[in-house]
Amino acid sequence: MLRAVQKSHLLAPLVTANSICRPISQMHSINFSDTHLMLKNTCKEFVDKELLPLAAKIDKTSEYPAEIVKKMGELGLMAVDIPEKYDGAGLDYLSYAIAMEEISRGCASTGVIMSANNSLYLGPIFKFGNEKQLEQHLRPFTKGDKIGCFALSEPGNGSDAGAASTTAVDKGDHWVLNGTKSWITNGYESEATVVFATTNKALKHKGISAFIVPKPHQGLSLGKKEDKLGIKASSTCNLIFDECKIPKENLLGKPGEGFKIAMTTLDAGRIGIASQALGIGQAALDCAVDYAKKRVAFGKAIANLQAIQMKIADMETRLESARLLTFKAAVLKDNKMPFTKEAAMAKLAASEAATYIAHQAIQILGGMGFVSDMPAERHYRDARITEIYEGTSEIQRIVIAANVLKEYN
Ligand code: CAA
Repeated sequence: MLRAVQKSHLLAPLVTANSICRPISQMHSINFSDTHLMLKNTCKEFVDKELLPLAAKIDKTSEYPAEIVKKMGELGLMAVDIPEKYDGAGLDYLSYAIAMEEISRGCASTGVIMSANNSLYLGPIFKFGNEKQLEQHLRPFTKGDKIGCFALSEPGNGSDAGAASTTAVDKGDHWVLNGTKSWITNGYESEATVVFATTNKALKHKGISAFIVPKPHQGLSLGKKEDKLGIKASSTCNLIFDECKIPKENLLGKPGEGFKIAMTTLDAGRIGIASQALGIGQAALDCAVDYAKKRVAFGKAIANLQAIQMKIADMETRLESARLLTFKAAVLKDNKMPFTKEAAMAKLAASEAATYIAHQAIQILGGMGFVSDMPAERHYRDARITEIYEGTSEIQRIVIAANVLKEYN
């Protein structure tokens, strides 16, 4: 587990081989605890050794990194904030944000696989599940042997999550689910899903309930694997429920509580996606600075040109601003304080920063930024989804504005 691994890594010097990023001490302007620093070091070492050499390859082949996920499970990274009692790493949400950023710096696809399992699958089961559900559907998903997914969006509704048309019918001793869920991260490899379905469409969001469905399952089939712009090594597909019979006890939370479960889950999930975006942005900045220091034009390294320095300054400022918002949201969650607005601000700022930074990195690299020999183009493609999934930037703005207006009441 992560705690044990941290101890063994405690005295290890910071790995610098194969790494172009800065020492951790120069990367953050807040004081981390020793645990957070050890975690960052452990993840950095893992990224440098295991992920950086693999990321470009699995981006090209769209290959799910099963071995990597297993190793991450052994490190505790597939269940960071789940208590040790349930085989999780027992760390806080700030730890999760730190780990997620670092893993995504190495490989954004691996980042989202980790994120969907931690915050979208384990998150709601831990918060709303009963003891039997925790034993049956949470514990086996903490070590990377099995991963889970979260099925909310549908072909006809993404942003308007309350308009779910997948139905769940109460048949006395079981439920029957019908409908299609779309854009499901981990859809192919997952061995269970938390799924949202309506028991009474007339009640709108108040008619939605959450269910746990093990996979594979009779009556549940998968759509085609989507061919995506980025995060290609993570699978995305439809889940199709056709007379899918599940036990009565697989209801998660109370009947009609599904929309609240989805929103609460996404609040936490958005901190994870913000952290993923930070990792992508950091990787793009690292790549751009490394290149600018080596590339000579007009008789000097381009890092000495003012035009390049203006870009580097803006890239760093946006990244660090978004990082502070992300840490703030995670710390509020750890302190059991409201964090809906802060998570939305973190995701908005970090995803827009990542897209901007990756765009500027390509500009600094010029032609080399446009070809896949260098990672800048991958970061550019990977960054784009962070402005879309777990709520588009427009949805984040709606959430932020609604909360600000409430604060003025
Ligand atoms: N926490 C708890 N409850 C919340 C909440 C929150 N953050 N936000 C809203 N609610 C509650 C409200 O209090 C309200 O409760 P009552 O009815 O009891 O009063 C209820 O939910 C409805 O609230 P709204 O009227 O504000 O809801 P809305 O229909 O206007 O929708 C929304 C609000 C913010 C737009 C929401 O629909 C939303 O977040 N949409 C985006 C969905 C999204 O992120 N989808 C991504 C899917 S996951 C994914 O990307 C796939 C993947 O695999 C990665």
